[in-house]
Amino acid sequence: MNPHLAKLQPYPFEKLRQLFAGVTPNPALKPISLGIGEPKHPTPAFIKQALADHLGGLAAYPATAGSEALRAAIASWIARRYGIPAPDAATQVLPVNGSREALFALAQTVIDPAAQSLVVCPNPFYQIYEGAAYLAGATPYFVNSDPARNFGCDYASVPDAVWQRVALLYVCSPGNPTGAVLDLDAWRELFALSERHGFVIASDECYSEIYHGDTAPLGALQAARQLGRDDYARLIVFSSLSKRSNVPGMRSGFVAGDARLIKQFLLYRTYHGGAMAPPVQQASIAAWSDEAHVEENRAQYRAKFAAITPLLQPWLDVQLPDAGFYLWADVSRTGLSDTEFARRLYADYNVTVLPGSYLAREAHGINPGAGRVRMALVAETAEGLEAAQRIVQFCQTLSA
Ligand SMILES: Cc1ncc(COP(=O)(O)O)c(C=O)c1O
Repeated sequence: MNPHLAKLQPYPFEKLRQLFAGVTPNPALKPISLGIGEPKHPTPAFIKQALADHLGGLAAYPATAGSEALRAAIASWIARRYGIPAPDAATQVLPVNGSREALFALAQTVIDPAAQSLVVCPNPFYQIYEGAAYLAGATPYFVNSDPARNFGCDYASVPDAVWQRVALLYVCSPGNPTGAVLDLDAWRELFALSERHGFVIASDECYSEIYHGDTAPLGALQAARQLGRDDYARLIVFSSLSKRSNVPGMRSGFVAGDARLIKQFLLYRTYHGGAMAPPVQQASIAAWSDEAHVEENRAQYRAKFAAITPLLQPWLDVQLPDAGFYLWADVSRTGLSDTEFARRLYADYNVTVLPGSYLAREAHGINPGAGRVRMALVAETAEGLEAAQRIVQFCQTLSA
């Protein structure tokens, strides 16, 4: 067996199952889950149609690099979305089967397993980063998200001796679970560190199209261009249709950035078997080429967040995030720990939320997820409102 497998932690939902084991949720109330970050808005009909129209493609093996048409559609989307020149579709763009597998696979590509490298991860974080680091023979190094910095990470706190061992740094912007978006100054700092120490930056941007303010989140390619880093050296971004277009089951995303990295990534993927099914490629072209459904989707999330967040605010410390579809609420005012809050809310009100401590690790003396819960506002507004009302009732009983 690969000894690194033993280092993998149980996934947060496995921990949640254990937390809820033996609990009978209130049978008078229908279950509502704000636990899993799975989009629930309907898949647009034109995407399903494009998939159905191209089922004939199942008769051929796809190329790992994807079709030229798909790479061109992705490159055009990047140019439109970020206001930058289109990346070279032949060398700077690669389709992937959802960003999850690509976030994992990149670590296997860029890390020398003999080098005892470190992989810098935000904390809390998307769990794949940690597993990817371990299975590549590296060790994660966590930088805590700081509520006082709008949940940003203080990279200046990382010692030079650590940076010297870093092979890869994962950024999640907009962040899961915090919703925080990196600004240009944060990117300037990270690019300078990457240049000094030679590590690769993997920028996970799968929530980029769901935002609540007037300006779309800054992307890493956009930041690189604004800072004159036109070759995207050591930078690779990950994007996805799952959340943007409500197709989490289609498994479609892309990576874009440094051509030198993408070349090696393509080589890795050729052996790993990372090619995208031809009908999915066609449906992806349709999805990346349309913005109307994305605007509609965003409007739905905005209305939902605008209705639900103020209901919770008298009871929990929670803000409208910059972006993403999570509320990252501090529950310490209730006097309960995050796990106790989640367990009792489930037992008494049949609402599932994810304890924040399950999404983070103890680092530098604290678990920065402790005392918080993540609520995924993925269902339709009415169900989200019902969940919020039950949470308010729960908080009222606690404070009575
Ligand atoms: C931060 C983050 N990155 C990546 C993913 C993976 O998304 P997908 O593989 O569907 O593109 C998710 C999914 O929940 C996520 O939350």
